[in-house]
Amino acid sequence: MNDRAPPITPELEAQRQAYYARIDAHSMAPLWTRLKALVPQQPAPVGQPHRWRYAELRDHVLESASHISAREAERRVLILENPGLRGSSQITNTLYAGLQLIMPGEVAPAHRHTQSALRFIVEGQGAYTAVDGEKTLMRPGDFVITPSWAWHHHGHEASGPMVWLDGLDIPLVTYFNATFREDHGSTEAAVDRPLGDSLARYGSGLLPVGYRSGT
Ligand code: FE2
Repeated sequence: MNDRAPPITPELEAQRQAYYARIDAHSMAPLWTRLKALVPQQPAPVGQPHRWRYAELRDHVLESASHISAREAERRVLILENPGLRGSSQITNTLYAGLQLIMPGEVAPAHRHTQSALRFIVEGQGAYTAVDGEKTLMRPGDFVITPSWAWHHHGHEASGPMVWLDGLDIPLVTYFNATFREDHGSTEAAVDRPLGDSLARYGSGLLPVGYRSGT
């Protein structure tokens, strides 16, 4: 059986292009012109390795407080944007990251969204993240999580700047067409649980008897 491809003459190519144009009108496309790019022989990651040195970024982060308040910005953050993905607000193809600054007396208003967030605390102390009715005081090295659709706001009741690294699954949730948000309406969501409540309930690694997830 002769399965060799015929020579591609200008006439054949013109016939193909006309055919592609006809099927294009029906929102269809030929896979064979795209297959190798769609399913490459080797992984084709997007983004580039990059290191952000906090010592080089710190002054720029602190300067942002002279340009905009946390209230106006909602979240005063400098995005860490992958050099290979500029304009995308992404640090990788699936993750967003940024350095957030809050100054004494400020509150970053309450909202919730389908994306999950984590915070690595970088500098300062005395600020808190309030998640689902519980404040968590933040110190350098702390790791704080904000699950999907949990009300949260940030405040600072002590002195000095406070900086942390935000990480969210924004690109991943966008990929699933599941990105949306709700503003609380009040600057601060109700805080109705004491400090340490989550650690006391869940810190053992066991869930309380009768536990039901709220989301
Ligand atoms: Fe948020």
